[in-house]
Amino acid sequence: MFNRMHSVLLFAAAWVACLAKLLDEKMTGSWRLFVLCSLLQGAGCNAAEFEALVPASVTTLSGSCVTVPCSFTVPDQFKGNLHPGCIPIWKKKKTTISTTTTFRGNLTAYDCTTTFNNVLEDNVQYYFRIDCGNPLKYTFYENPVTIQIKGLPDAPRLTTPKEPVVEGTPVELGCSAPSYCDTHPPTVTWTPALGLSTQLQQNDTVTSTLTFNASHLHHGNNVSCTAAYYIPSGNKTVTSTRHQLSISYAPRNTSAVGSPCLPAREGGCLNLTCTSHANPAVSAVTWYRIHGEHILKIGTGSSLSIQLWNANYVFFCEARNEIGTEKSDVYKINIQANEYLSYSPALGSGGGTPFMTSGEGSITGVKVWEQPGNHITGFQLRYGTRWDRLIGRAVHAPLRLDLFEGETITQVSGKYHTSHYIYQLIFGTSRGRSLIAGQPALKSFNLYPEHEEAELRILSGRFDGGGITSLGAHWGLAPEGYGNSTS
Ligand SMILES: *[C@@H]1O[C@H](CO)[C@@H](O)[C@H](O)[C@H]1NC(C)=O
Ligand SMILES: *[C@@H]1O[C@H](CO)[C@@H](O)[C@H](O)[C@H]1NC(C)=O
Ligand SMILES: *[C@@H]1O[C@H](CO)[C@@H](O)[C@H](O)[C@H]1NC(C)=O
Ligand SMILES: *[C@@H]1O[C@H](CO)[C@@H](O)[C@H](O)[C@H]1NC(C)=O
Ligand SMILES: *[C@@H]1O[C@H](CO)[C@@H](O)[C@H](O)[C@H]1NC(C)=O
Ligand SMILES: *[C@@H]1O[C@H](CO)[C@@H](O)[C@H](O)[C@H]1NC(C)=O
Ligand SMILES: *[C@@H]1O[C@H](CO)[C@@H](O)[C@H](O)[C@H]1NC(C)=O
Repeated sequence: MFNRMHSVLLFAAAWVACLAKLLDEKMTGSWRLFVLCSLLQGAGCNAAEFEALVPASVTTLSGSCVTVPCSFTVPDQFKGNLHPGCIPIWKKKKTTISTTTTFRGNLTAYDCTTTFNNVLEDNVQYYFRIDCGNPLKYTFYENPVTIQIKGLPDAPRLTTPKEPVVEGTPVELGCSAPSYCDTHPPTVTWTPALGLSTQLQQNDTVTSTLTFNASHLHHGNNVSCTAAYYIPSGNKTVTSTRHQLSISYAPRNTSAVGSPCLPAREGGCLNLTCTSHANPAVSAVTWYRIHGEHILKIGTGSSLSIQLWNANYVFFCEARNEIGTEKSDVYKINIQANEYLSYSPALGSGGGTPFMTSGEGSITGVKVWEQPGNHITGFQLRYGTRWDRLIGRAVHAPLRLDLFEGETITQVSGKYHTSHYIYQLIFGTSRGRSLIAGQPALKSFNLYPEHEEAELRILSGRFDGGGITSLGAHWGLAPEGYGNSTS
């Protein structure tokens, strides 16, 4: 009773398995079926017939290779005819194919796995045939494999890290490319090659993993992977989509720069600017002043305007974002060197065109033109050995003063008309000499430096077609290396 019951159950299982085989058009899992049916042989499953188990279709690249997994069964009465000398053959529509094949199976183990090389024809059915040189000769027409070809490989697929990635953490990017020909899997490369990459072949997919430690230098890089396929008639490469990396990092290259309002002097202004690179952007900037041993917080914001009251100032800024902070190098301003600068504001009616003299080095000579018995029409300064442009108008011959070596102009005075011209102009020197031009009429003016050591550096003001309408003086030390004093 038990025995009969057992047989009925086994028979039903085999029947289900064989039905499944009939329905399994694509032959997926054919290996499993084959094994299952082999196990059930003699238990009702009629595996003892000619049958090749191959995929219904495989795909490869034009000119490349493809491996067709293959197994087969033969009726029981032919099993004895199988021997190591049996010949595997592949046929195309009843003719032997021209494509070269590499047999990779073992016929005595019912394995007919074969690699087709240099495949060029698309959508062609191939049939397996076995010829053992004895009654076992058979072509498996019922079970063809269709080889399909494509001109271009499918693009590799990029898998990107979960963002945001914080600087200093390891990053892993993956790239998977289909492998069409298992003897020549594609080679995957990364652009840019940011770190180490390892390549792994699994089933018919090649996966490359790129690992590197995230750095701010990687931020914004566009990463892609390329799969290169070896094909004897011409290699093919195909590239994935690009992924732009976003790396979060604490502020970098933080720098503090000051821009003094000129001339830099006590009481003058200083604009401070803090720059920094950060992702996400800098959210807060704090300014500090180093005062002896103390560090004083003096303000916030990427730019800050302050007044200079001491001779020496040392600043730095600190930039912050949600990742971290960075301090800048110190910015020093020393107004000691510039403390001799001063400006005597312009006097006169001030009509006409503005002017400002300029030149390199100390002033070494002066020429002044006067309307005889009247006002000053023009003047010219010499800096070093070069005469600056003529300011105003030249009439007749100028009055001229050439300074000695080390002699400087320390006073500019004269007379002016509140609605006309400068009437008299006197240049006084450090050696007590002077040049006097024009008429001693109307209002007096006297321009001189705030510091004894300073000398005349620049004259500025306005002039018109008739003469000089206003005049101001800028005082200071000659720029270094340009002093005219040689001792
Ligand atoms: C082929 O298969 C048979 C049976 O499984 C085995 O004895 C033989 O060693 C195999 N031959 C090769 C070359 O693997
Ligand atoms: C490779 O194939 C095996 C067996 O078919 C399967 O178990 C495994 O999940 C596959 N691996 C990948 C990565 O697809
Ligand atoms: C990342 O940094 C760690 C620790 O500093 C180091 O051991 C590792 O080799 C680095 N990895 C790469 C890919 O540079
Ligand atoms: C990455 O691509 C984007 C958009 O095409 C571009 O704006 C950016 O400059 C690229 N980055 C680099 C580092 O080339
Ligand atoms: C094709 O690729 C192989 C390596 O995959 C290389 O050795 C060969 O030089 C390449 N051929 C051409 C024509 O680029
Ligand atoms: C910082 O400056 C260096 C040198 O100029 C530069 O190579 C680097 O890319 C900068 N870093 C950032 C985050 O801008
Ligand atoms: C300083 O900043 C103020 C206000 O932003 C601006 O008006 C002035 O021109 C700046 N001065 C200098 C020397 O940059």
